[in-house]
Amino acid sequence: MPLPIILDTDPGIDDAAAIAAALFSPALDLQLITTVAGNVSVEKTTRNALQLLHFWQADVPVAQGASTPLLRPARDAAYVHGESGMEGYPFVEHRRQTLDKPALLAIRDALINAPEPVTLVAIGPLTNIALLLIQYPACREKIRRLVIMGGSAGRGNFTPTGEFNIAIDPEAAARVFASGLEIVMCGLDVTNKAVLAPEFLASLPGLNRTGKMLHALFSHYRSGSMSTGLRMHDLCAIAWLARPELFTLKPCFVAVETEGRWTAGTTVVDIDGRYEQPANVQVALDLDVEGFRGWVAEVLALAP
Ligand code: BDR
Ligand code: CA
Repeated sequence: MPLPIILDTDPGIDDAAAIAAALFSPALDLQLITTVAGNVSVEKTTRNALQLLHFWQADVPVAQGASTPLLRPARDAAYVHGESGMEGYPFVEHRRQTLDKPALLAIRDALINAPEPVTLVAIGPLTNIALLLIQYPACREKIRRLVIMGGSAGRGNFTPTGEFNIAIDPEAAARVFASGLEIVMCGLDVTNKAVLAPEFLASLPGLNRTGKMLHALFSHYRSGSMSTGLRMHDLCAIAWLARPELFTLKPCFVAVETEGRWTAGTTVVDIDGRYEQPANVQVALDLDVEGFRGWVAEVLALAP
């Protein structure tokens, strides 16, 4: 039985690749996409999610979520993903609409109506997930676990120690990490290793329509380069669900710094147990890179 998942995302070029994998991996059943402000505004991330689903003629509902972080002004990563958030491919016009309810209600209803607990996957800032836990705490019982792309046990990519998804909304991340949910964190420790090689990138246009489209987006993606390889941060969260054996996980106490003058948005990952706190997160610390590349090739070959 494929695993039912709800994907919270801010497409985003690596988000687009993650959505492809979530749709076409036989191990997963993508039931709902919710959008959040992150790489670009929530209006743009929603538009991008709808364009992708139209491209694949996929029947997955989309609900729009938070337009700003809990307490801070929105900042984006258009310098990585382009002005639209998914620059580079001429998607056709369509008439698809979002659900007529916001992301929080859509997630709540999907959880309430699910026969079994559902896995949440968050590959953008954690604003929607924090709001869900604040407003509908009873939903927790129906959350199997939360798998995130975010954070780092070492250096950051947005500030010296902050990874983008966490540093954009540290207060949301702090709430989520302290919530007691079962959390798997795929942070920069593994996602910086999740590099698609230039030869594979060059082969994508010959693979299928999806390969052509992703190749066009990847040519505009600024997390690495087409000639040295591209980092597929968000794909790691999907890869962990489909192929957990590719990852080395360690249970750790993780706190999110919200107050540091220079360090707000840092995930403090207590790998050596110095704070003597109970572990609250399964932290991915290593990745079988060749296995990851093989899985990406496999799953993209299943797309149209
Ligand atoms: C994360 O930040 C975003 O730009 C990517 O989509 C990914 O979710 C990587 O730090
Ligand atoms: Ca993302």
